[in-house]
Amino acid sequence: MPAILAIESSCDETSASVCVDGAILSNVIANQTIHEAYGGVVPELASRVHQQNIVPAVQQALFNAKVSKNDIDAVAFTRGPGLLGSLLVGVSFAKAFALARQIPLIEVNHMQAHILAHFIAEKKPSFPFICLTVSGGHTQIVLVKDYFDMEVIGQTLDDAAGEAMDKTSKILGLPYPGGPLIDKNARSGNPDAYKFPEPQIPGFDFSFSGLKTSILYFIRDNVAANPNFIRENMNDICASVERRIATILINKLKKAADEYGIKDVALAGGVSANTGLRNLLTETGEKNGWNVFIPKFEYCTDNAAMIAIAGYHKYLKGEFIGQDVAPLARMPF
Ligand code: KG4
Ligand code: ZN
Repeated sequence: MPAILAIESSCDETSASVCVDGAILSNVIANQTIHEAYGGVVPELASRVHQQNIVPAVQQALFNAKVSKNDIDAVAFTRGPGLLGSLLVGVSFAKAFALARQIPLIEVNHMQAHILAHFIAEKKPSFPFICLTVSGGHTQIVLVKDYFDMEVIGQTLDDAAGEAMDKTSKILGLPYPGGPLIDKNARSGNPDAYKFPEPQIPGFDFSFSGLKTSILYFIRDNVAANPNFIRENMNDICASVERRIATILINKLKKAADEYGIKDVALAGGVSANTGLRNLLTETGEKNGWNVFIPKFEYCTDNAAMIAIAGYHKYLKGEFIGQDVAPLARMPF
């Protein structure tokens, strides 16, 4: 019955989780509001807030799980990819905790953990499955052959899907992070009101920079003709942009599932919280006879529970790492 403490600090969420024998007993997430004033995450500020949040987050996670720090058997942490200063706080904390308690350390790849979040729920995908991982920094189609045997078969050539959401919201004058606000406004808008182009990229790769530019010009031209254009049409614009991003993603996902002959199809990463994307995946899955796996909201955006479940599976394999481990801003699978 291994008890694992997990730490996530790759971007602007400080999170701690306790997992006992593969069951998540707590998942504490401290969000950082300081970045709102800057319209995006300021790395140096993120590191400083992680330092303030990490001890209380861990204490709360242990308290919620009703597990004493003396009963923890291993510490799992996000080694990368992410912001180096932010990662450093989590990695240093994990090392210090493991050293003090004389217990092993487990390194976790953040992008793999987003996918392994599907193994928290009772209904789990079977290997091999395909996962569309969409976050603020990544957009990937991953062929998942086993827990830690994953192959990226498609990815974005420029912006990530979450970045496209966040940049659109910035153009619309909405505060950061814009993805959830686009989602909220889109619920009362018409997704067919405006048509944005679908990029023609070969294979399973994506590109969102052309879409971003076309949204920018569309807004600029319409605001020149009517200064109130954004305010009067906010919901329709959000719904149309959301629809286009979702169709770009799901069309590629379908192409991959068809070509690999795979029926277990999963969604992961922060943008998997998006209602339009979740709905479109569900509909596409029903039409194609897929088993669709969509994470619970709390496991979509960055959280330590996904690090804990990944850590648990590494613990079972006896995969530990030494105290000389350093964080990695870039960390391929
Ligand atoms: O995975 P994540 O929490 O952090 C990274 O690893 O990047 O993803 C954050 C991204 C942001 O771009 C945010 O705007 C987007 O996920 N996001 C959403 C929604 N919730 C978060 N995008 C659209 N709709 C949402 N409901
Ligand atoms: Zn993430």
